[in-house]
Amino acid sequence: QCPERVFSGIQPTGVPHLGNYVGAISNWVKLQEEGNSMMVSIVDLHSITVQQDPAELRENIQTMAACLLACGIDSDKTILFQQSTDKSKRVSDPKVGLFTYPILQAADILLYKSTLVPVGEDQITHLELARDLARSFNRKYGLIFPRCSQLLGDVAKIRSLKDPSSKMSKSDPNPMSRIDLSDSPDEICDKIGKAVTDSLSKDITYDLDLRPGVANLIDLHSSLTGQSVEEIVKYVQNQGMNKKTYKDYLASVVNDKVQPMNAEMNRLLSDRGHLNSVLKNGQDKASSIAVNTMSDVMSLVGF
Ligand code: ADP
Ligand code: NA
Repeated sequence: QCPERVFSGIQPTGVPHLGNYVGAISNWVKLQEEGNSMMVSIVDLHSITVQQDPAELRENIQTMAACLLACGIDSDKTILFQQSTDKSKRVSDPKVGLFTYPILQAADILLYKSTLVPVGEDQITHLELARDLARSFNRKYGLIFPRCSQLLGDVAKIRSLKDPSSKMSKSDPNPMSRIDLSDSPDEICDKIGKAVTDSLSKDITYDLDLRPGVANLIDLHSSLTGQSVEEIVKYVQNQGMNKKTYKDYLASVVNDKVQPMNAEMNRLLSDRGHLNSVLKNGQDKASSIAVNTMSDVMSLVGF
């Protein structure tokens, strides 16, 4: 199978939560390990419309870069870079900013000759735009942009610990509803301990409709370990765990996964020189691809 040029982006909105890890970052690591040519851009969409404090923006970008590396993004295999959102891209009317975002995304997809783009449902139309632009350019000037396919992710696989009818999200005002990759062992035990379950049975069973809280814990467990729901339920029942002891067990499983990433993130954040050079390196690699594409485009168009 031919390796793909995979293009994905993430906003520097603070430390990711387990939903982001399971739904996005861990998939990128998998695609990277399968030998695809990965590009991960840290893109600050906010700065398209709003003036941002440069120091704060730099801090947010470095935090996200450290998280991605700690999660397994390898800068020797993946081009990890910061999307430059300079003043020239900023527009005065926020509505225009929202309108330009799909265009910027489409431009990036084409610029790096992406063949595969992991997207959520809400971004399928952005990808259509990229394909339309590629098709009309190729028809007029010759084949230059590959057709890019979408890789539709599991949307909101991980749900809120406080309300399993909604997704785990950064924008939830209640911090107990999510587990962040920077949470301490005690915070994780506390959050899982206080996660909503039900009063149905002391035993652990998986029923998404009748026991959404318990099902959410098992789904989280399954996503982190790769074990199937059936395997987990069988094991937990064999061990005679009840809801309380299962939560304790799950907290240790989550900590086994999260704490090494947390420690690595802190280690990376204590060496800003290294982080900066990783981002600089990624920027250089991304730029050289972009320059190549642009020079091909220019010569085809006849400049
Ligand atoms: P948030 O809702 O926390 O702001 P975003 O909307 O910025 O998260 O999503 C960033 C990435 O993480 C997207 O690829 C999205 O599909 C994924 N993601 C976010 N929340 C979840 C979740 N609860 N379960 C699975 N994937 C998620
Ligand atoms: Na969001």
